[in-house]
Amino acid sequence: MNTGRGIPEEVIEAVLRQHDIVDTVSKHVHLTKQGKYMKGLCPFHSEKTPSFTVTPDRQIFHCYGCGKGGNAIKFRMELEGLTFPEAVRLMADEAHIPYEAGTGGSAGDSPRNLELEQQLQAHEWTAKLYHFLLKNTEYGKSAMDYLKSRGFSEKAIDTFQIGYAPARWDTLVQFLEKRSFNLDVMEKGGLLSSKQDGSGYVDRFRDRVMFPLHNRSGKVIAFAGRVLGEGQPKYLNSSESKLFSKSRTLYNLHMAKGEIRKSRQFVLFEGYGDVISAWEAGVHNGVATMGTALTESHAAMMRGLADEVIVCYDGDQAGQAAALKSIPILEDAGFQVRIAMLSEGLDPDDFIRKYGAERFHRKILDGAVSSVKFKLIYLRKNHILLEEDGKVAYIKDAMEVIAPLSSPTEREIYLKELSAELQVSFESLKQECNEKRQSMQKNNYAGDNKGKRWNNGRHKTGQASMPELLPAYHVAERRLLAFMLQDDEVARYVGDSLGDQFNLEDHAAIAAYLYAYYAQGKPPDASRFIASLQDERLEQSVIGIAMMELPAEWSTQELDDCIREVKKVPQMKQIRRKKEEMVSAEKAGDFLRAAQIASEIIALERQ
Ligand code: CTP
Ligand code: MN
Repeated sequence: MNTGRGIPEEVIEAVLRQHDIVDTVSKHVHLTKQGKYMKGLCPFHSEKTPSFTVTPDRQIFHCYGCGKGGNAIKFRMELEGLTFPEAVRLMADEAHIPYEAGTGGSAGDSPRNLELEQQLQAHEWTAKLYHFLLKNTEYGKSAMDYLKSRGFSEKAIDTFQIGYAPARWDTLVQFLEKRSFNLDVMEKGGLLSSKQDGSGYVDRFRDRVMFPLHNRSGKVIAFAGRVLGEGQPKYLNSSESKLFSKSRTLYNLHMAKGEIRKSRQFVLFEGYGDVISAWEAGVHNGVATMGTALTESHAAMMRGLADEVIVCYDGDQAGQAAALKSIPILEDAGFQVRIAMLSEGLDPDDFIRKYGAERFHRKILDGAVSSVKFKLIYLRKNHILLEEDGKVAYIKDAMEVIAPLSSPTEREIYLKELSAELQVSFESLKQECNEKRQSMQKNNYAGDNKGKRWNNGRHKTGQASMPELLPAYHVAERRLLAFMLQDDEVARYVGDSLGDQFNLEDHAAIAAYLYAYYAQGKPPDASRFIASLQDERLEQSVIGIAMMELPAEWSTQELDDCIREVKKVPQMKQIRRKKEEMVSAEKAGDFLRAAQIASEIIALERQ
């Protein structure tokens, strides 16, 4: 069976068999035994008392502090910033497990993988070719002069493998042909363009400085070509392909990820030049979105590596607007966000060349402001504060930002600043703020999750404090699933009487996956089961459930109690509906109907 992630399930299972969770984790975390668990300091968030646990008999880890958890593959993904396929491949290599689909793989798989493999190889060759042409040949001289004139050092050119594509139509075509690459495949991979009359291919990049773009494991997957000096388009990128998606690629992530993980922080730039200059200035945790808007995929990619972001976009209007837009995306992903403020419309590259590395660190990075502060500064620009109307309008805008903050201290700090800045009394600002909060609360009450928007991301949604808040049926569902994970007989029992009639959608989904898992004749094994899921949220939910304390033996009595609790919910809902119907029937004077409904309610309640 294939997992839908393109990796044969046998490979995933072999990887999990060969990589014991305790061995995997203890390479990075000092673990001490504590009954059924091993405990240690969490590698994913900073803590002084251990809340990170490993459960050998379930082959999973879980941190009660930050809520991270999973099997051995997940641990490596989080720790090394790998995608699922990358982690599996790496771990398969380490254990000498043959990775290729073998006889089990479907016929459709391998030619596609082969094409991707060829495209990757061609990109690597091409990067080398362009770099060589820039550095060692007459063709590259004008590009070299251009780079030097912009202040690119020899070392940066090597580190970032910068190259040059000559002003000819067939440099790459000939190069790839000589190495027997299939040119159709090369066109699909974005290196070549087809001629307009369809009679063959030409180089996509001509007379441009070439920046190779890597995936997070360091493989070249695309290029960006810059014109020498002025010209349009300034940058030409590889087209989107199976290999390359702009919204999922961050420039320089492969080199920066080590430092990002260490510092738990990254600096987000807009452009290649910014990343490179900053790198030379000693900022080794910088990545760039390559001019496109930051996406949720970008944010999710970074989540395992860091807790804090400094957004360091261009100082012009467009850059600041983009920074503003990035804030909710980053905060919703759980990052603490600060914004670096560049003046005079400079971009970070310009700033470093003009004022030097030291000032960039001290003034721009260290001086980066909180997201709230940035929003206030940003809003202020729209108002003329010398005029009373302008002040009032600015205060109104500012309250939209300050009132939602959950910390009273934080609110007070910003209100005080505002009061000093506008020469308006603190008391009146505070009153305004409280009024705003009250009206917000009213609005929030109507919708279920509207509050989330205002969550400034600092409040982790760990699961540690959840249990006591859960309604009884929620606990019952979790308990059932926990027993089901441990014993396929329970799964059969629950399956017969409850099926997928769990009230919480995620629980229903987990149950359905679990029935399917056991139906394939697999043994109870939380770690393996998690590997078969394809949904991050479900995975986390299963981990939480697998960590529940359960009695050593289950009894049908206990299962029945839980099942009853679960089944009660839709019945209660029905009763509530009926009661409402009854009341409105009474109001309408239809007493016969009301009496009829009343007897229905009694029947339901008996059940
Ligand atoms: N960009 C792009 N295509 C363009 C213009 C910009 O892909 N036509 C992307 C590039 O990733 C670029 C980033 O947007 O690095 C930021 O754009 P800009 O500030 O215009 O470029 P700089 O990085 O400052 O480029 P340079 O310093 O070479 O002028
Ligand atoms: Mn720029």
